[in-house]
Amino acid sequence: MNGSSQQKAQLGVGICGLGTVGSGAFNLLANNEAEISRKTNRHVKVVQVGCRRDHTDCDLSDVDVTRDIFDVVKNPAVDIVLELIGGTDIAMELVIAAIENKKHVVTANKALIALHGEKLFQMAADAGVCLKYEAAIAGGIPIVKAIREGLAGNDIEFVAGIINGTTNFILTEMESAGNRDFADVLAEAQALGYAEADPTFDIEGIDAAHKLTILSSIAFGVPLQFDAMYTEGISKITVEDIRYASELGFKIKHLGITTKTDKGIGLRVHPTLIQKDKMLAQVNGVMNAVLVGSDAAGETMYYGAGAGAGPTASSVIADVIDVVRAGNAIPDMGFLQDELLNSPVLAIEDVESAYYLRLSALDKPGVMAQISSILGRHNISIESLIQKDLHDGQVPVVIVTDSVIEKSMNAAIVELESLDQVEDSVTRIRVESF
Ligand code: HSE
Repeated sequence: MNGSSQQKAQLGVGICGLGTVGSGAFNLLANNEAEISRKTNRHVKVVQVGCRRDHTDCDLSDVDVTRDIFDVVKNPAVDIVLELIGGTDIAMELVIAAIENKKHVVTANKALIALHGEKLFQMAADAGVCLKYEAAIAGGIPIVKAIREGLAGNDIEFVAGIINGTTNFILTEMESAGNRDFADVLAEAQALGYAEADPTFDIEGIDAAHKLTILSSIAFGVPLQFDAMYTEGISKITVEDIRYASELGFKIKHLGITTKTDKGIGLRVHPTLIQKDKMLAQVNGVMNAVLVGSDAAGETMYYGAGAGAGPTASSVIADVIDVVRAGNAIPDMGFLQDELLNSPVLAIEDVESAYYLRLSALDKPGVMAQISSILGRHNISIESLIQKDLHDGQVPVVIVTDSVIEKSMNAAIVELESLDQVEDSVTRIRVESF
């Protein structure tokens, strides 16, 4: 039988940032000390915490607390630095300082990895330390390990996921509460603590884009390409669209989608109609889910809490354990750095998908024929169409099309909007079959 964890060699952990994730990591290490020791043969102990203020959920009586997070990366007793402060400026300086001081780094910072990962991974490799980031994507779901290790034998075809809990919560509430509007639901999401400090990151899809940048890279062995991403948020989605989509058998979800095609890498974040009976359509509230398509395993889906103290800490501590067990044995991004594909990211105009269109037509004879004729001229087939009741002299028309290249749809929409009988702009939401 093994001795107590205290008798084993110590692994010193320094935590930078004691917010939701930092406090969760601190408490998880304390609560599961014995289990973690049985898995690592080390006494994994928090030796220093750098934070602006103490956290009421954490008993810090036995720990060295500093208000200067840079103390932590210089502390000789710290072997692993947990960067849990978020943001990209100070966090970047902190991670660089940690690596220069030969500390392993575990981070939950998606923006940092998506924007600066390549530089940081190279620095870590040169310094012979680890840089781990499981917690950056989908909170408690071990999706990095699933793709990078579990599916390592596969040629990955696509990754499609609900990877932002806030937008999923808002869309779910808008759907279930019927007539609640967007601003009202966002206020509740903020009050519940799901949203980013700047909720624009959630609502406009930037948070999901950071996460998808990393997923695309580990799935296909391509560089981190945040700047090439097509990003669209949910701020224009109306309760009306959710209701019409439902009548047609769909739910609206905010998806991150990355695909590998002969022409390049698809990399896009946008609201998407998916059929109600698909697995991703069943993912509600703040939950996340990632569907991976691969040549041998087929489709596998990973579901769980995408945020919160416990789930995110679960991924942070798994990385700490990985550092002890495996060190740098597995390439950070799954592929060897000099084997990355230089595959271009497809412009959104070159991506193919089906579409949901909503437009407001004047109640005049021949208008439906004109709409069909424009779509037909652009080789766009109508899959289904509903015409709602006359309201203020206008008829809402909702169409779901077959799959078409986006540039054809753009051209058709310009023509539809130029019709005298069509009021305002045409709403368009992509439809996918995941
Ligand atoms: N704001 C993020 C979300 C937190 O809503 O998913 C987790 O990354």
